[in-house]
Amino acid sequence: MSKTIKVFSPATIGNIGPGFDVLGLAVKGMGDTVEVWKTSCDKIVIEEILNADHDITKDPDKNTAGIAAREVLRLLKMNRGIGMRITKGMPAGSGLGSSAASAAAAAYAVSKLFDDKLSKMDLILPATLAEEYVSGGFFADNVAPALLGGATLTRSSVPLDVTHLGSISDLIVVLALPHIQILTKDARDILPSEVEMKNFVSNMANACLIASAFSTDNYKLFSRSLKDIVIEPVRSTLIPGFDEVKAVAMEAGADGMTISGAGPAVFAITNKKKKAPIIEDAMARTFKKNKIDCRTLLTTPSHKGSLQVTSDDFDFFNH
Ligand code: HSE
Repeated sequence: MSKTIKVFSPATIGNIGPGFDVLGLAVKGMGDTVEVWKTSCDKIVIEEILNADHDITKDPDKNTAGIAAREVLRLLKMNRGIGMRITKGMPAGSGLGSSAASAAAAAYAVSKLFDDKLSKMDLILPATLAEEYVSGGFFADNVAPALLGGATLTRSSVPLDVTHLGSISDLIVVLALPHIQILTKDARDILPSEVEMKNFVSNMANACLIASAFSTDNYKLFSRSLKDIVIEPVRSTLIPGFDEVKAVAMEAGADGMTISGAGPAVFAITNKKKKAPIIEDAMARTFKKNKIDCRTLLTTPSHKGSLQVTSDDFDFFNH
């Protein structure tokens, strides 16, 4: 029997607040697993998709894992058959990079299957091409941290130019996932085409400070820069109760709260272990008060990003 390579890729927050399409962060506790093996035919076949919360196509030309696998084979100049199994570990359309996690895991797994010749940096482009198919936009703020771990900065999409920033060791992320779905495409379509200069300057300053915070492992810098006055005011209108949830999170001691990616997930930050469950509870109760069911998770940055899983009892909560 041919060997199987199994890879886990974590959930990601992309964008981190004001770093729209630029800053992304991998987090522990949720993610997708992709298994790949060689077959004797010359096609990519997605055999199974497990644990999906909605219909996901097994057509390899329309599924992000299938497209990423195809693009990696193209980079390797190989025309080989591959079987794939995808196990979803997070809700789709939640703002936590669900399609990016599948793309990143597939790209890394296929590269490992064929002698591991490509670096994680090399795999960002194939995974981003897969993301483009489902989101309609070419951005790497989910796939880059899903592959590399920690926080990443995408300076340019074409040509792709990604820098790994690092992480913040005492950062606690309080995630709330309201049970509503927002398509990335819809959340992009409502954005303004022009931005006032003073708002541009504010977001740019805060995004730069976040990059510095992750590069120097400095929670204090991050705690004062999670402010987005361009995208958040527009997208938050798609999330019932957002303003109230943010207000209670801050009252409960959070140092900031904003939307994760295109939403509807939101995240608050703290570096105080005792405060985190209080913030979590306040956010959950306020979504419920607004008649929105939500799931919450206290988590921290995933430093490793995508990794090969070698045992069956892989503890994804800690990766
Ligand atoms: N940067 C993208 C956005 C990510 O916010 O639209 C979507 O997952």
